[in-house]
Amino acid sequence: MAPANQYVLILGASSGFGRAAATALASQGYHIIGVHLDRAAGIKQVDELKAELDALGVRHMFFNVNAADAERRADVLAAVAAEFTAHPGATIRMMLHSLAFGTLKELVATDMSQTISQKSLEMTLDVMANSIVYWTQDVLRNGLMTHGGRIVGLTSAGSARVLPMYGAVSAAKAALESYCRQLALELGPLGITANTIRAGVTETPALSKIPGNDVIMGYAMMRNPSHRLTKPEDVASVLTLLIRDEAQWINGEQLGVDGGEDAVDLTWWKSEA
Ligand SMILES: NC(=O)c1ccc[n+]([C@@H]2O[C@H](COP(=O)([O-])OP(=O)(O)OC[C@H]3O[C@@H](n4cnc5c(N)ncnc54)[C@H](O)[C@@H]3O)[C@@H](O)[C@H]2O)c1
Repeated sequence: MAPANQYVLILGASSGFGRAAATALASQGYHIIGVHLDRAAGIKQVDELKAELDALGVRHMFFNVNAADAERRADVLAAVAAEFTAHPGATIRMMLHSLAFGTLKELVATDMSQTISQKSLEMTLDVMANSIVYWTQDVLRNGLMTHGGRIVGLTSAGSARVLPMYGAVSAAKAALESYCRQLALELGPLGITANTIRAGVTETPALSKIPGNDVIMGYAMMRNPSHRLTKPEDVASVLTLLIRDEAQWINGEQLGVDGGEDAVDLTWWKSEA
């Protein structure tokens, strides 16, 4: 069980991996700070999640704001700092970056009107990659994370592979991985680790927006040694391990959490068919 007054800050807490992480870590006694960006349907999901967290007996704070907005980030962290003054010794034990908000367009389309704009490219990089740096800076600047802290970014096999329309997100994933390695170096002396989790293909709202997601899911199931997709709960389970003191020496790593999917050569399955 979590020591008293330890919190987990989840960027992207309302859905997919973030939501599963909230429940799994709350089950271990961690209090939850959730950031999300939702309209009506998503807000209903957050209300359901809050009820689950209440039943688990943990404290929670949720903020429906754009995580890439510097002023909103300052507001959230000011509220967290105020909460911490009421709970001496409170710290953020883990910050999970699980934001899915990218423009899926070609970098150079045959019809140039369909080419990704500079604004969309920069926004994708800002939300899905740069924001992990800005949140880490401000969490540290405000003294909200100390020795034993964990920074975790969610990446995908798409950081090193080419898919139609995926250019901006792929670049964001490559940047996120690079940022986490750099944070591992810079925060290691403070006893704070930074790692990425490379999750397997998982059916979430984010995946449903990727063109050809049915084909992606079909191949993933064929290739995965267990012939099923990854579930958000598979990743949440690993987070409950990473947060433990025993995981202190895992730093600067990219952890595959995909049941072995990425290791299997697709041509082998094709030759078997
Ligand atoms: N689904 C997959 O197959 C898969 C595989 C590997 C990695 N990932 C990565 O995991 C992460 C989470 O994806 P998911 O599949 O759980 O997606 P999801 O759509 O289920 O959840 C995305 C979350 O991000 C929040 N969000 C989006 N933009 C935001 C913003 N600007 N400010 C604040 N909150 C914002 C949403 O409110 C939601 O809580 C993403 O980085 C994604 O690329 C997904």
